[in-house]
Amino acid sequence: MFAAAAAVGVGVSIPAFAQGVPVQFTAGQAAGGQDPYLRRCSSCHGDTLQGLLEAPPLTGRQFDGWRGKPAKNFWDFMIEFMPQDEPGKLSPQTYSDIMAFILAFNKVPASDKPLDGPPPPDQIIPK
Ligand code: HEC
Repeated sequence: MFAAAAAVGVGVSIPAFAQGVPVQFTAGQAAGGQDPYLRRCSSCHGDTLQGLLEAPPLTGRQFDGWRGKPAKNFWDFMIEFMPQDEPGKLSPQTYSDIMAFILAFNKVPASDKPLDGPPPPDQIIPK
């Protein structure tokens, strides 16, 4: 009986969970992510994230597609496929800093808690 009640409780809380809390990273971390971004990503995505040749922009309307969804989606894509010439080869720290840089570039507000590896599943990239 208690288990059933708990299950109903979980069901009711799903919309709040799906809405999520904003992804956490610090402003200092975002600043620190610029250098590795320029070294490992900008040759394809451009110095101002505008996209070059077949590599899409990491800003503007293209980036808007990541908003309102778990930040972990972006993380998972990045570590599985990027940098395209050497996927998965950067340290978790470097991926975290680069992601913080990309988020800050897109005006996602920083907080006082660093991004440290995969974002928890309830954290979203805010609209
Ligand atoms: C050798 C070129 C190259 C490099 C270097 C590179 N990318 Fe990419 N990236 C691409 C291409 C091409 C695509 C589109 C193909 C795809 O979606 O798999 C892409 C797609 C992406 C996307 C998905 C964008 C979207 O909205 O669909 C993200 C995020 C991304 N790259 C992040 C990065 C990051 C972060 C780095 C540096 C760590 C990086 N990339 C380095 C070529 C590159």
